[in-house]
Amino acid sequence: MGQSKIFTPLDLPNGTTIRNRIAKAAMEESLADVATSTPSKQLINLYATWAKGGSGVIITGHVMVDRSAMSGPGDVALDADSNLTMFQEWAAVSRIHGAQVWMQINHPGRQMRTDLGQQAYAPSAIPLDVGGASRLFCQPKEMPDSMVESVIERFVATARLAEEAGFNGVEVHAAHGYLISQFLSPLVNKRTDRWGGSPENRARVLYSVVRRIRAAVNPSFAVAVKINSADFQRGGFSPSDAIDVVGTLNTLGVDCIELSGGSYESPAMVIRIDSSKGSAYLEFAKEIVNVATVPIMLTGGISRRKVMEQVLDAGVAIVGLTTALALVPDLPVRLQRGERIPTAKTTPPNWSSKTLASAANLGVVKWNMRKHSKGEKATYQIWPIFAFIIEFFLGWRRARVFKQTRKVKAD
Ligand SMILES: Cc1cc2nc3c(=O)[nH]c(=O)nc-3n(C[C@H](O)[C@H](O)[C@H](O)COP(=O)(O)O)c2cc1C
Repeated sequence: MGQSKIFTPLDLPNGTTIRNRIAKAAMEESLADVATSTPSKQLINLYATWAKGGSGVIITGHVMVDRSAMSGPGDVALDADSNLTMFQEWAAVSRIHGAQVWMQINHPGRQMRTDLGQQAYAPSAIPLDVGGASRLFCQPKEMPDSMVESVIERFVATARLAEEAGFNGVEVHAAHGYLISQFLSPLVNKRTDRWGGSPENRARVLYSVVRRIRAAVNPSFAVAVKINSADFQRGGFSPSDAIDVVGTLNTLGVDCIELSGGSYESPAMVIRIDSSKGSAYLEFAKEIVNVATVPIMLTGGISRRKVMEQVLDAGVAIVGLTTALALVPDLPVRLQRGERIPTAKTTPPNWSSKTLASAANLGVVKWNMRKHSKGEKATYQIWPIFAFIIEFFLGWRRARVFKQTRKVKAD
Protein backbone atom coordinates (compact mmCIF):
# COMPACT_ATOMS: atom_id res chain seq x y z
CA MET A 1 0.00 0.00 0.00
CA GLY A 2 1.22 3.43 -0.86
CA GLN A 3 4.37 2.05 -2.54
CA SER A 4 3.15 2.69 -6.05
CA LYS A 5 4.48 5.47 -8.22
CA ILE A 6 1.17 7.29 -7.65
CA PHE A 7 2.26 8.23 -4.14
CA THR A 8 5.88 9.09 -4.93
CA PRO A 9 6.47 12.83 -4.40
CA LEU A 10 7.45 14.94 -7.40
CA ASP A 11 9.99 17.77 -7.35
CA LEU A 12 8.99 20.62 -9.64
CA PRO A 13 11.48 22.83 -11.52
CA ASN A 14 10.55 25.70 -9.15
CA GLY A 15 12.10 23.78 -6.21
CA THR A 16 8.83 22.83 -4.52
CA THR A 17 7.53 19.28 -4.08
CA ILE A 18 4.11 17.81 -4.77
CA ARG A 19 3.30 15.02 -2.32
CA ASN A 20 1.84 12.62 -4.92
CA ARG A 21 1.12 12.33 -8.64
CA ILE A 22 -2.63 12.98 -8.62
CA ALA A 23 -3.93 16.39 -9.67
CA LYS A 24 -7.50 17.55 -9.44
CA ALA A 25 -7.55 19.06 -12.94
CA ALA A 26 -9.52 22.22 -13.75
CA MET A 27 -13.30 22.09 -13.78
CA GLU A 28 -15.58 25.07 -14.24
CA GLU A 29 -17.74 24.93 -11.12
CA SER A 30 -20.23 27.74 -11.98
CA LEU A 31 -20.44 28.48 -8.25
CA ALA A 32 -19.14 32.05 -8.05
CA ASP A 33 -21.16 34.86 -6.56
CA VAL A 34 -22.72 36.00 -9.85
CA ALA A 35 -22.95 39.70 -8.98
CA THR A 36 -19.27 40.08 -8.08
CA SER A 37 -17.65 37.06 -9.84
CA THR A 38 -15.84 36.25 -6.57
CA PRO A 39 -15.62 32.83 -4.87
CA SER A 40 -18.78 32.04 -2.87
CA LYS A 41 -18.95 30.09 0.42
CA GLN A 42 -20.40 27.20 -1.57
CA LEU A 43 -17.42 27.17 -3.91
CA ILE A 44 -15.01 27.23 -0.97
CA ASN A 45 -16.89 24.31 0.69
CA LEU A 46 -16.36 22.27 -2.45
CA TYR A 47 -12.60 22.90 -2.24
CA ALA A 48 -12.61 21.95 1.45
CA THR A 49 -13.94 18.55 0.33
CA TRP A 50 -11.22 18.18 -2.32
CA ALA A 51 -8.53 19.35 0.13
CA LYS A 52 -9.43 16.46 2.45
CA GLY A 53 -9.45 14.07 -0.51
CA GLY A 54 -5.66 13.75 -0.79
CA SER A 55 -4.75 15.07 -4.28
CA GLY A 56 -1.19 16.38 -4.61
CA VAL A 57 -2.28 19.41 -6.63
CA ILE A 58 -5.67 21.04 -6.82
CA ILE A 59 -6.16 23.14 -9.95
CA THR A 60 -9.14 25.48 -9.75
CA GLY A 61 -11.78 25.79 -12.43
CA HIS A 62 -10.95 28.47 -14.95
CA VAL A 63 -10.80 31.99 -13.52
CA MET A 64 -11.32 34.85 -15.96
CA VAL A 65 -8.62 37.49 -16.25
CA ASP A 66 -11.17 40.14 -17.27
CA ARG A 67 -14.63 40.54 -15.72
CA SER A 68 -15.95 42.04 -18.93
CA ALA A 69 -14.96 38.88 -20.85
CA MET A 70 -16.63 36.08 -18.92
CA SER A 71 -17.01 32.56 -20.23
CA GLY A 72 -20.01 31.78 -18.03
CA PRO A 73 -22.05 33.86 -15.56
CA GLY A 74 -21.10 31.65 -12.59
CA ASP A 75 -17.35 31.84 -13.25
CA VAL A 76 -14.86 33.56 -10.99
CA ALA A 77 -12.91 36.58 -12.29
CA LEU A 78 -9.78 37.96 -10.68
CA ASP A 79 -8.64 41.39 -11.80
CA ALA A 80 -7.63 44.75 -10.38
CA ASP A 81 -11.23 45.38 -9.19
CA SER A 82 -11.43 42.17 -7.14
CA ASN A 83 -11.60 42.06 -3.35
CA LEU A 84 -9.01 39.43 -2.36
CA THR A 85 -10.63 38.28 0.91
CA MET A 86 -12.58 35.35 -0.52
CA PHE A 87 -9.67 34.40 -2.78
CA GLN A 88 -7.44 34.19 0.30
CA GLU A 89 -9.96 31.91 1.97
CA TRP A 90 -10.23 29.79 -1.18
CA ALA A 91 -6.44 29.29 -1.30
CA ALA A 92 -6.10 28.63 2.44
CA VAL A 93 -8.91 26.05 2.53
CA SER A 94 -7.47 24.21 -0.47
CA ARG A 95 -3.96 24.04 1.02
CA ILE A 96 -4.87 23.10 4.57
CA HIS A 97 -4.25 19.34 4.22
CA GLY A 98 -1.01 19.62 2.26
CA ALA A 99 -2.02 19.97 -1.40
CA GLN A 100 -0.64 22.71 -3.62
CA VAL A 101 -3.37 24.85 -5.19
CA TRP A 102 -2.93 26.35 -8.61
CA MET A 103 -5.39 28.82 -10.12
CA GLN A 104 -6.26 28.18 -13.75
CA ILE A 105 -6.42 31.51 -15.57
CA ASN A 106 -8.32 32.02 -18.79
CA HIS A 107 -9.92 34.33 -21.34
CA PRO A 108 -12.81 32.98 -23.46
CA GLY A 109 -12.20 34.90 -26.69
CA ARG A 110 -15.01 33.85 -29.03
CA GLN A 111 -16.29 31.06 -26.72
CA MET A 112 -18.61 33.55 -25.03
CA ARG A 113 -22.34 33.19 -24.50
CA THR A 114 -24.62 35.74 -26.15
CA ASP A 115 -26.91 36.02 -23.12
CA LEU A 116 -24.23 37.70 -20.98
CA GLY A 117 -24.56 40.88 -23.02
CA GLN A 118 -20.79 41.24 -23.54
CA GLN A 119 -18.87 41.92 -26.73
CA ALA A 120 -16.59 39.04 -27.67
CA TYR A 121 -13.12 39.64 -29.13
CA ALA A 122 -11.06 36.94 -30.80
CA PRO A 123 -7.92 36.71 -32.99
CA SER A 124 -10.19 36.98 -36.07
CA ALA A 125 -13.90 37.73 -36.50
CA ILE A 126 -14.83 34.07 -36.98
CA PRO A 127 -17.82 32.87 -34.94
CA LEU A 128 -18.10 29.48 -33.31
CA ASP A 129 -19.72 26.79 -35.44
CA VAL A 130 -21.61 24.41 -33.18
CA GLY A 131 -24.49 23.72 -35.53
CA GLY A 132 -27.93 24.69 -34.19
CA ALA A 133 -26.41 25.96 -30.93
CA SER A 134 -24.16 28.50 -32.73
CA ARG A 135 -26.52 31.39 -32.05
CA LEU A 136 -26.00 30.92 -28.31
CA PHE A 137 -22.48 32.29 -28.86
CA CYS A 138 -21.36 35.83 -29.72
CA GLN A 139 -20.19 37.09 -33.08
CA PRO A 140 -16.62 38.14 -32.18
CA LYS A 141 -14.75 41.21 -33.39
CA GLU A 142 -11.09 41.01 -34.30
CA MET A 143 -8.91 42.03 -31.36
CA PRO A 144 -6.93 45.17 -32.12
CA ASP A 145 -3.17 44.90 -31.51
CA SER A 146 -3.38 47.12 -28.40
CA MET A 147 -6.02 44.81 -26.91
CA VAL A 148 -3.82 41.75 -27.47
CA GLU A 149 -1.10 43.48 -25.44
CA SER A 150 -3.55 44.44 -22.68
CA VAL A 151 -4.97 40.89 -22.48
CA ILE A 152 -1.42 39.54 -22.02
CA GLU A 153 -0.92 42.03 -19.19
CA ARG A 154 -4.23 40.93 -17.64
CA PHE A 155 -2.96 37.35 -17.45
CA VAL A 156 0.13 38.64 -15.67
CA ALA A 157 -1.90 40.81 -13.28
CA THR A 158 -4.19 37.89 -12.39
CA ALA A 159 -1.19 35.62 -11.74
CA ARG A 160 0.32 38.21 -9.39
CA LEU A 161 -2.98 38.60 -7.54
CA ALA A 162 -3.29 34.81 -7.24
CA GLU A 163 0.17 34.74 -5.64
CA GLU A 164 -0.80 37.57 -3.30
CA ALA A 165 -3.93 35.67 -2.28
CA GLY A 166 -1.90 32.58 -1.30
CA PHE A 167 -2.15 30.27 -4.31
CA ASN A 168 0.95 28.14 -5.00
CA GLY A 169 0.81 28.66 -8.74
CA VAL A 170 -1.21 29.35 -11.85
CA GLU A 171 -2.07 27.29 -14.87
CA VAL A 172 -2.41 29.24 -18.12
CA HIS A 173 -5.32 27.79 -20.10
CA ALA A 174 -4.13 27.43 -23.68
CA ALA A 175 -6.44 24.53 -24.58
CA HIS A 176 -10.10 23.72 -25.39
CA GLY A 177 -10.66 26.51 -27.92
CA TYR A 178 -10.40 29.47 -25.52
CA LEU A 179 -8.55 32.65 -26.46
CA ILE A 180 -4.93 31.44 -26.35
CA SER A 181 -5.86 28.24 -28.14
CA GLN A 182 -7.71 30.36 -30.75
CA PHE A 183 -4.47 32.24 -31.36
CA LEU A 184 -2.64 28.91 -31.76
CA SER A 185 -5.13 27.56 -34.32
CA PRO A 186 -4.58 28.31 -38.04
CA LEU A 187 -8.32 27.65 -38.57
CA VAL A 188 -9.44 30.49 -36.35
CA ASN A 189 -6.44 32.81 -36.37
CA LYS A 190 -6.30 34.46 -39.82
CA ARG A 191 -4.25 37.48 -38.74
CA THR A 192 -1.48 38.83 -40.89
CA ASP A 193 0.30 40.78 -38.14
CA ARG A 194 2.87 39.53 -35.57
CA TRP A 195 0.13 37.47 -33.82
CA GLY A 196 -0.85 35.35 -36.85
CA GLY A 197 0.52 33.39 -39.81
CA SER A 198 3.59 31.34 -38.87
CA PRO A 199 3.44 28.87 -35.96
CA GLU A 200 5.87 31.13 -34.08
CA ASN A 201 3.55 34.14 -34.54
CA ARG A 202 0.44 32.17 -33.53
CA ALA A 203 2.19 31.03 -30.35
CA ARG A 204 3.48 34.53 -29.51
CA VAL A 205 0.56 35.32 -27.17
CA LEU A 206 1.14 32.11 -25.20
CA TYR A 207 4.90 32.60 -24.96
CA SER A 208 4.50 36.28 -23.99
CA VAL A 209 2.00 35.38 -21.24
CA VAL A 210 4.29 32.68 -19.82
CA ARG A 211 7.50 34.75 -20.05
CA ARG A 212 5.93 37.80 -18.42
CA ILE A 213 4.23 35.80 -15.64
CA ARG A 214 7.50 33.99 -14.86
CA ALA A 215 9.27 37.34 -14.59
CA ALA A 216 6.55 38.84 -12.37
CA VAL A 217 6.12 36.13 -9.72
CA ASN A 218 8.47 34.55 -7.16
CA PRO A 219 10.71 31.72 -8.44
CA SER A 220 8.94 29.20 -6.16
CA PHE A 221 5.49 30.06 -7.58
CA ALA A 222 4.41 27.38 -10.08
CA VAL A 223 3.66 28.34 -13.66
CA ALA A 224 1.87 25.58 -15.57
CA VAL A 225 0.34 25.54 -19.04
CA LYS A 226 -2.55 23.45 -20.36
CA ILE A 227 -2.34 22.78 -24.10
CA ASN A 228 -4.24 20.64 -26.52
CA SER A 229 -2.41 17.66 -27.93
CA ALA A 230 -4.60 18.52 -30.93
CA ASP A 231 -7.85 20.36 -31.67
CA PHE A 232 -9.19 17.27 -33.48
CA GLN A 233 -10.28 19.51 -36.37
CA ARG A 234 -8.87 19.25 -39.87
CA GLY A 235 -6.47 22.14 -40.46
CA GLY A 236 -6.43 23.07 -36.76
CA PHE A 237 -3.69 22.91 -34.12
CA SER A 238 -1.99 19.59 -34.82
CA PRO A 239 0.08 17.11 -32.79
CA SER A 240 3.26 18.33 -34.49
CA ASP A 241 2.33 21.93 -33.53
CA ALA A 242 1.96 20.69 -29.93
CA ILE A 243 5.44 19.12 -30.02
CA ASP A 244 6.93 22.43 -31.23
CA VAL A 245 5.10 24.41 -28.53
CA VAL A 246 6.37 22.03 -25.83
CA GLY A 247 9.91 22.49 -27.21
CA THR A 248 9.69 26.25 -26.61
CA LEU A 249 7.84 25.97 -23.28
CA ASN A 250 10.82 23.86 -22.08
CA THR A 251 12.92 27.02 -22.20
CA LEU A 252 10.49 29.42 -20.50
CA GLY A 253 10.66 28.34 -16.86
CA VAL A 254 7.43 26.34 -16.87
CA ASP A 255 6.82 23.84 -14.02
CA CYS A 256 4.28 21.56 -15.69
CA ILE A 257 2.59 21.11 -19.06
CA GLU A 258 -0.87 19.54 -19.00
CA LEU A 259 -2.06 17.77 -22.14
CA SER A 260 -5.70 17.72 -23.12
CA GLY A 261 -7.62 18.00 -26.39
CA GLY A 262 -10.65 19.46 -28.16
CA SER A 263 -12.77 22.63 -28.08
CA TYR A 264 -16.48 23.57 -27.93
CA GLU A 265 -16.63 22.80 -31.68
CA SER A 266 -14.96 19.41 -31.30
CA PRO A 267 -15.45 18.37 -27.68
CA ALA A 268 -12.77 15.70 -27.42
CA MET A 269 -12.00 16.75 -23.82
CA VAL A 270 -14.21 13.85 -22.78
CA ILE A 271 -11.86 11.46 -24.55
CA ARG A 272 -11.13 8.33 -22.52
CA ILE A 273 -7.58 7.10 -22.06
CA ASP A 274 -8.81 3.64 -21.08
CA SER A 275 -10.63 3.20 -24.40
CA SER A 276 -9.20 2.28 -27.79
CA LYS A 277 -9.21 5.95 -28.87
CA GLY A 278 -7.62 6.81 -25.57
CA SER A 279 -4.60 4.61 -25.99
CA ALA A 280 -3.69 6.55 -29.15
CA TYR A 281 -3.82 9.63 -26.93
CA LEU A 282 -1.44 7.96 -24.48
CA GLU A 283 0.88 7.05 -27.38
CA PHE A 284 0.97 10.74 -28.27
CA ALA A 285 1.68 11.67 -24.65
CA LYS A 286 4.73 9.40 -24.82
CA GLU A 287 6.00 11.41 -27.81
CA ILE A 288 5.56 14.62 -25.82
CA VAL A 289 7.33 13.09 -22.82
CA ASN A 290 10.29 12.41 -25.11
CA VAL A 291 10.66 16.07 -26.07
CA ALA A 292 9.66 17.65 -22.74
CA THR A 293 12.22 18.60 -20.13
CA VAL A 294 9.51 19.62 -17.65
CA PRO A 295 6.91 17.41 -15.90
CA ILE A 296 4.00 16.40 -18.13
CA MET A 297 0.47 15.97 -16.81
CA LEU A 298 -2.13 13.98 -18.74
CA THR A 299 -5.86 14.42 -18.22
CA GLY A 300 -8.85 12.66 -19.73
CA GLY A 301 -10.69 9.49 -18.79
CA ILE A 302 -8.48 8.51 -15.86
CA SER A 303 -10.19 7.04 -12.81
CA ARG A 304 -8.71 3.60 -12.11
CA ARG A 305 -5.45 2.76 -10.34
CA LYS A 306 -4.36 0.51 -13.22
CA VAL A 307 -4.75 3.30 -15.78
CA MET A 308 -2.97 5.80 -13.51
CA GLU A 309 -0.03 3.41 -13.22
CA GLN A 310 0.00 2.77 -16.95
CA VAL A 311 0.12 6.52 -17.62
CA LEU A 312 2.86 7.13 -15.03
CA ASP A 313 4.85 4.16 -16.37
CA ALA A 314 4.75 5.87 -19.79
CA GLY A 315 6.82 8.70 -18.30
CA VAL A 316 3.98 11.11 -17.56
CA ALA A 317 4.70 12.83 -14.21
CA ILE A 318 1.16 13.69 -13.03
CA VAL A 319 -2.25 12.20 -13.76
CA GLY A 320 -5.07 14.74 -13.99
CA LEU A 321 -8.55 13.71 -12.86
CA THR A 322 -11.73 15.74 -13.06
CA THR A 323 -14.88 13.65 -13.49
CA ALA A 324 -13.55 10.99 -11.12
CA LEU A 325 -12.89 13.55 -8.37
CA ALA A 326 -16.24 15.26 -8.87
CA LEU A 327 -17.85 11.88 -8.21
CA VAL A 328 -15.44 10.56 -5.58
CA PRO A 329 -13.55 13.56 -4.11
CA ASP A 330 -11.52 11.43 -1.66
CA LEU A 331 -10.40 8.96 -4.34
CA PRO A 332 -6.64 9.58 -3.70
CA VAL A 333 -6.97 8.95 0.06
CA ARG A 334 -8.95 5.78 -0.60
CA LEU A 335 -6.40 4.60 -3.15
CA GLN A 336 -3.58 5.14 -0.70
CA ARG A 337 -5.42 3.15 1.96
CA GLY A 338 -5.93 0.37 -0.56
CA GLU A 339 -9.74 0.67 -0.33
CA ARG A 340 -12.14 -0.34 -3.05
CA ILE A 341 -13.01 2.64 -5.24
CA PRO A 342 -16.62 3.05 -6.37
CA THR A 343 -17.13 3.50 -10.11
CA ALA A 344 -15.96 7.03 -10.80
CA LYS A 345 -17.10 7.55 -14.41
CA THR A 346 -20.05 9.12 -16.13
CA THR A 347 -21.53 7.69 -19.31
CA PRO A 348 -21.86 10.54 -21.83
CA PRO A 349 -25.13 10.12 -23.79
CA ASN A 350 -24.90 8.74 -27.28
CA TRP A 351 -26.63 11.76 -28.91
CA SER A 352 -25.97 12.71 -32.53
CA SER A 353 -24.89 16.21 -31.49
CA LYS A 354 -21.52 15.78 -29.76
CA THR A 355 -21.79 19.36 -28.46
CA LEU A 356 -25.11 18.69 -26.69
CA ALA A 357 -23.90 15.30 -25.44
CA SER A 358 -20.81 16.97 -24.00
CA ALA A 359 -22.99 19.68 -22.38
CA ALA A 360 -25.18 16.98 -20.80
CA ASN A 361 -22.08 15.23 -19.45
CA LEU A 362 -20.84 18.52 -17.99
CA GLY A 363 -24.29 18.87 -16.39
CA VAL A 364 -23.94 15.49 -14.65
CA VAL A 365 -20.52 16.45 -13.31
CA LYS A 366 -21.69 19.90 -12.16
CA TRP A 367 -24.70 18.34 -10.43
CA ASN A 368 -22.25 16.31 -8.35
CA MET A 369 -20.01 19.29 -7.60
CA ARG A 370 -23.06 21.21 -6.34
CA LYS A 371 -23.91 18.29 -4.05
CA HIS A 372 -20.41 18.31 -2.50
CA SER A 373 -20.48 22.10 -2.17
CA LYS A 374 -23.58 21.72 0.02
CA GLY A 375 -22.07 18.89 2.07
CA GLU A 376 -24.46 16.37 0.49
CA LYS A 377 -23.55 12.96 -0.85
CA ALA A 378 -22.97 12.66 -4.60
CA THR A 379 -25.73 10.93 -6.55
CA TYR A 380 -23.99 10.67 -9.86
CA GLN A 381 -26.44 8.42 -11.57
CA ILE A 382 -28.67 11.36 -12.58
CA TRP A 383 -29.93 11.01 -16.16
CA PRO A 384 -27.91 13.19 -18.57
CA ILE A 385 -31.11 14.68 -20.06
CA PHE A 386 -32.19 15.92 -16.60
CA ALA A 387 -28.72 17.23 -15.86
CA PHE A 388 -28.76 19.03 -19.21
CA ILE A 389 -32.13 20.68 -18.53
CA ILE A 390 -31.18 21.68 -14.98
CA GLU A 391 -27.85 23.12 -16.11
CA PHE A 392 -29.54 24.99 -18.95
CA PHE A 393 -32.08 26.48 -16.53
CA LEU A 394 -29.45 27.42 -13.91
CA GLY A 395 -27.27 28.96 -16.62
CA TRP A 396 -30.20 31.01 -17.93
CA ARG A 397 -31.06 32.23 -14.40
CA ARG A 398 -27.44 33.12 -13.61
CA ALA A 399 -27.12 34.97 -16.93
CA ARG A 400 -30.18 37.10 -16.05
CA VAL A 401 -28.73 38.04 -12.66
CA PHE A 402 -25.36 38.69 -14.30
CA LYS A 403 -26.85 41.04 -16.87
CA GLN A 404 -29.02 42.85 -14.33
CA THR A 405 -26.19 43.44 -11.86
CA ARG A 406 -23.75 44.56 -14.54
CA LYS A 407 -26.37 46.94 -15.90
CA VAL A 408 -27.05 48.42 -12.46
CA LYS A 409 -23.30 49.01 -11.99
CA ALA A 410 -23.02 50.66 -15.41
CA ASP A 411 -26.07 52.95 -14.77
C1 LIG B 1 -17.85 20.13 -15.62
C2 LIG B 1 -16.52 20.28 -16.30
C3 LIG B 1 -15.93 21.52 -16.35
C4 LIG B 1 -14.68 21.68 -16.97
N1 LIG B 1 -14.07 22.90 -16.90
C5 LIG B 1 -12.78 23.01 -17.31
C6 LIG B 1 -12.05 24.21 -17.06
O1 LIG B 1 -12.54 25.15 -16.45
N2 LIG B 1 -10.79 24.26 -17.52
C7 LIG B 1 -10.19 23.21 -18.16
O2 LIG B 1 -9.04 23.30 -18.53
N3 LIG B 1 -10.86 22.08 -18.40
C8 LIG B 1 -12.13 21.94 -17.96
N4 LIG B 1 -12.78 20.76 -18.13
C9 LIG B 1 -12.07 19.66 -18.80
C10 LIG B 1 -11.30 18.82 -17.80
O3 LIG B 1 -10.24 19.53 -17.17
C11 LIG B 1 -10.71 17.58 -18.41
O4 LIG B 1 -9.76 17.96 -19.39
C12 LIG B 1 -11.77 16.68 -19.03
O5 LIG B 1 -12.93 16.64 -18.21
C13 LIG B 1 -11.28 15.26 -19.18
O6 LIG B 1 -10.93 14.69 -17.92
P1 LIG B 1 -11.85 13.63 -17.13
O7 LIG B 1 -12.07 12.50 -18.06
O8 LIG B 1 -11.04 13.29 -15.92
O9 LIG B 1 -13.12 14.32 -16.77
C14 LIG B 1 -14.03 20.57 -17.56
C15 LIG B 1 -14.64 19.32 -17.53
C16 LIG B 1 -15.86 19.16 -16.90
C17 LIG B 1 -16.47 17.79 -16.84
